[in-house]
Amino acid sequence: MAKKNLSPLHPLLESEAVRDAARALIAAVHEEASERVLNEKNYEKAIRDLERLRGRPLFYPLLTGGRGSGARMQLADGTTRLDFIGGIGVYAFGHGDADLTEHAVVAAASDVLFQGHLVPGPEYLRLSRALQKHAGPELKHVWLSLSGAMANENALKMIFQKRSPADRIVVFDGAFHGRTLAMAELTDKPSFREGLPQRGKVHHIPFYDPKVESSTEKTLAALEKHLRRHPGKIAGMCFELVQGEGGFNTAPPEFFTALMKRCREAGVAVWVDEVQTFGRTGELFAFQTLGLAELIDVVTVGKILQGSATLFSKEYNPEPGLVAGTFAGNTIGMAVATRIIERMEEEGYLGPEGRTVLLGRRIERRFQSLAKRMPKAVGERSGVGAMQAFVPWHGTPEVVKDVLQACFEEGLILLSAGSNPMKIRMLPPVNTTDEELEAVFSVLEKAMRRVAEERELPC
Ligand SMILES: Cc1ncc(COP(=O)(O)O)c(C=O)c1O
Repeated sequence: MAKKNLSPLHPLLESEAVRDAARALIAAVHEEASERVLNEKNYEKAIRDLERLRGRPLFYPLLTGGRGSGARMQLADGTTRLDFIGGIGVYAFGHGDADLTEHAVVAAASDVLFQGHLVPGPEYLRLSRALQKHAGPELKHVWLSLSGAMANENALKMIFQKRSPADRIVVFDGAFHGRTLAMAELTDKPSFREGLPQRGKVHHIPFYDPKVESSTEKTLAALEKHLRRHPGKIAGMCFELVQGEGGFNTAPPEFFTALMKRCREAGVAVWVDEVQTFGRTGELFAFQTLGLAELIDVVTVGKILQGSATLFSKEYNPEPGLVAGTFAGNTIGMAVATRIIERMEEEGYLGPEGRTVLLGRRIERRFQSLAKRMPKAVGERSGVGAMQAFVPWHGTPEVVKDVLQACFEEGLILLSAGSNPMKIRMLPPVNTTDEELEAVFSVLEKAMRRVAEERELPC
């Protein structure tokens, strides 16, 4: 029997029969999984095996398994941890989200698990539409890919082709853009490109620093110097609007506006890397949060998107042959990403008073009250919305490492970011509850007090 005006482009979950069946499958999987918890010995052996296969230790010796819930993830030994880093910013709605799991199950059952650019399915179209609709009229095109680095590679190629023979790129100090050969050169971390050949055509200029007088002018002058030294040779500039790995550094819109306008005047492509910021700063795109939409040529997104994409204006649409590749993403990731975008819009996460911005304020308040109790231990806080960081004591790598380790032992997963000072960062689920926040900050305080005692640091 034909269904009420629904096409393959509507989510199959709109059918009650499908939703019920998905729920039944998920319940059966969880019941079965809950009976398969590893004992301590087997859990440790599994981790050792994994480390041996990888050829190096895990950053945190853990293996997930079972069903988590929100900010709590379950490990294969049945215990839970507070996860405030979310696979480095991937889990928008945390662990075990029932609605997303249902979308995933239905997508998995639909046809093929991976979709390529040769044979796209409805999930490919729906995700591309959702992204384009939110990105605005200038960014007319969407090219899906798997990792953030791959989206960045595609962006770089589009920019080089359009701007040929210009072959140089400007990026910020502290930038991180991924792990491919080209991205390792853009990234401002020598150890990430140790032993790799380099083209030598990447120029780093200072990111905004509120402590530096005339910071914007100084960065503009650095850009100007490169434009003068390499006339007609700078193809593009890559902007991370909130620096992720660099330390959750932010800058006022005027800083970016000045640089982007100068780039446009000089015929330099404006490329925004939103792999980490997507969905976390208030609007879906940080360039919207900062009011920069009219100045942008190319944008890359990833992480929360469960895959990645390059969005670009008509002008940057490449010649056939430049971007392709087998995979566009997996069907489950595409369906779940589309749903995440829908929910962010429908459930009030977007906008200047949306839930993501409010989450940022709630976390700020927690830091303020922690700083009252431990004024000598809680240093500067940075970030925005669902990207938050702080400097413990003076932010030396040794102290940060100890705090992270103590947090891990007390049941909380966080990560470091930046250097000089090094910070501790949080990439929480956007739907973090007050109860979860309370638990996270109470573990953080306990861990910091432990480190203070062990290292004889003042609080
Ligand atoms: C700003 C930014 N760009 C690019 C990447 C690379 O993404 P992926 O690890 O998915 O390749 C990351 C990952 O952390 C990132 O934060």
